[in-house]
Amino acid sequence: MLRSFYCLLLLLSSLANNAQDTVSLPPLIPVPVKMQPGAGNYIFPQQMKISIPANNNSVAFVANHIAAKLKTAAGISAEIASQPSADIVLSLNKKEDKTLGKEGYQLVVNQNGIQIKANAAAGIFYGAQSLYQLLPAEIESREMVPGIKWSVPFVTISDQPRFGWRGLMLDVARHFFTKQQVKDFIDNMVRYKYNMLHLHLTDDQGWRLEIKSLPRLTEVGAFRAERTGRWGEFKPQEPGEPSNYGGFYTQDDIRELITYASERFVTIVPEIDIPGHSLALVAAYPELSCTPGTYQVSVGNRFMIWPGNGTFYGTIDNNLCPANEQVYTILDKIFTEVAALFPYEYIHMGGDETYKGFWEKSDAVAALMKKEKLQNMHEVQSYFVKRVSKIIASKGKKMIGWDEILEGGVAPGSAVMSWRGEKGGIEAAALKHPVVMTPSTYVYVDLYQGDPLAEPPTYSMLRLSKTYNFNPVPPGVDSSYILGGQANLWSERLHTVRHAEYMLWPRGWAVAESVWSPVSKKNWADFIVRAEAHFKRYDIAGINYSRSMYDPILDVQKVKDSTIQVALTTEVPGLDIHYSFDEFYPDQYYPVYSQPLLFPPGASSLKVQTYRKGKPAGKPINLPLSELKKRVKL
Ligand code: ACM
Repeated sequence: MLRSFYCLLLLLSSLANNAQDTVSLPPLIPVPVKMQPGAGNYIFPQQMKISIPANNNSVAFVANHIAAKLKTAAGISAEIASQPSADIVLSLNKKEDKTLGKEGYQLVVNQNGIQIKANAAAGIFYGAQSLYQLLPAEIESREMVPGIKWSVPFVTISDQPRFGWRGLMLDVARHFFTKQQVKDFIDNMVRYKYNMLHLHLTDDQGWRLEIKSLPRLTEVGAFRAERTGRWGEFKPQEPGEPSNYGGFYTQDDIRELITYASERFVTIVPEIDIPGHSLALVAAYPELSCTPGTYQVSVGNRFMIWPGNGTFYGTIDNNLCPANEQVYTILDKIFTEVAALFPYEYIHMGGDETYKGFWEKSDAVAALMKKEKLQNMHEVQSYFVKRVSKIIASKGKKMIGWDEILEGGVAPGSAVMSWRGEKGGIEAAALKHPVVMTPSTYVYVDLYQGDPLAEPPTYSMLRLSKTYNFNPVPPGVDSSYILGGQANLWSERLHTVRHAEYMLWPRGWAVAESVWSPVSKKNWADFIVRAEAHFKRYDIAGINYSRSMYDPILDVQKVKDSTIQVALTTEVPGLDIHYSFDEFYPDQYYPVYSQPLLFPPGASSLKVQTYRKGKPAGKPINLPLSELKKRVKL
């Protein structure tokens, strides 16, 4: 009897824990390693004290960060000092807490106030990010919000990241983001405990970094004619047409960004993408191409063609010539300045998507192959990459590149960024090379995240739920070679920050959780609930995000007599899909989807929208029959 009573108690307590896990815990992203809620709330006084350790500028920076946020949104004043008692105590462990590592923290909220402890200042900063997420969403406001009870729930959190590389890549080459926009990007990434900002600084559409010894790189390479509309369909720049779009970062700008990032515990990883993707460089120095001619910075006109079978070819030679010694002389100058500017130990040299067709036609490349006994174009590429890795090593840095650097033999000591799925990362880890996982199949946040009929066009589909399943360590891989993971925001199709934010969030939250939180803590249904809480925070902060997770997923089939049938499901539970075939956008009184729909004779479109409890959730979507027919082979 006593035993069954004990079993019942255990069952009840485990139910309560599960309920806490999924329902009543504060909606933190990424979900912490351990979080124990308490009973009660700490109410912020109008005048606060924040205690910091003496003589630690990094923790003082965090204290000021907290104070500024409280002042802006809540009008609360905070006095920061090394003081014995305070409402918020930020302290560094005298004796290292081994469980927390360099970036972990403990956050305790109780009747005495808030204590954040860590081994190092980075942990204090991440504790502060969790504290913001415990506060009412209005803390994200850029102006004071009256009438809010500024309080945080009692809680004990012990938290540390799964990976040391928690990255976001921003493509500043295709679309130039200003220095201030990059700072804003950093501010947004640290909310979710990202710590690596990979800047894709050069590409066919722009060279964005001042190299003092090679001024033409930015004079010519940083500017092109402005185009708007659909990428790939743009007309090439006309002769004489002004180059009125672009920009670059001076070396002073970069130093300012590095300081801004490092205060926020973010490391900037510079990428100079070579030997392909180099049209802006070749436009400045055409003699570096194997194919004689004059070159222009691309405006986004199509010159790389993907026929759809995984191969591609170029109609313009956008490569550096691996057989030209001048190429290595110029690269030496570039990497000398890059290495002096960026403190991080790695420099990214790109290496992706090099179309070899023009090299195949080059006498100089043929002579190089003979001289160096190179058997094929992979080996030519590998010859180039290995020479670049030596240049980078000569500057005291290590090289990282996209997974193509594995082709033809990877350079010793280099790290690999696996983007063509996980294959390259698996191969590199087996060869004992450090790996950053960025598989396009999970973390390419430039891809559309809902039905393409309802999204800005890109290349293929990547839904939030798929991104949420990202695990940087594929089965069977030695995790000690996996530095971490990264989401990549390519900007071919982006013209504005609003659009960039729409592509990045909430998928950026899904990746943040995949690189910070233990796999055992991840839970899709729970993530959705927490993401919704963060939508509210972003609404208040004025940051854009996508609600595409609410839009239906279509399965289009042809049934008898060539009738089109559409089956609809949703990623998110608890939604009603209302639909119409009558050209009117359905409201919550229109029929609710319950089984696959057959296009009635005469109907030319299906219109759908999801609702939750009678309120619109997804966007109104128009699905023309003509478009749906293209999805099935009739
Ligand atoms: C890449 O997406 N080409 C690295």
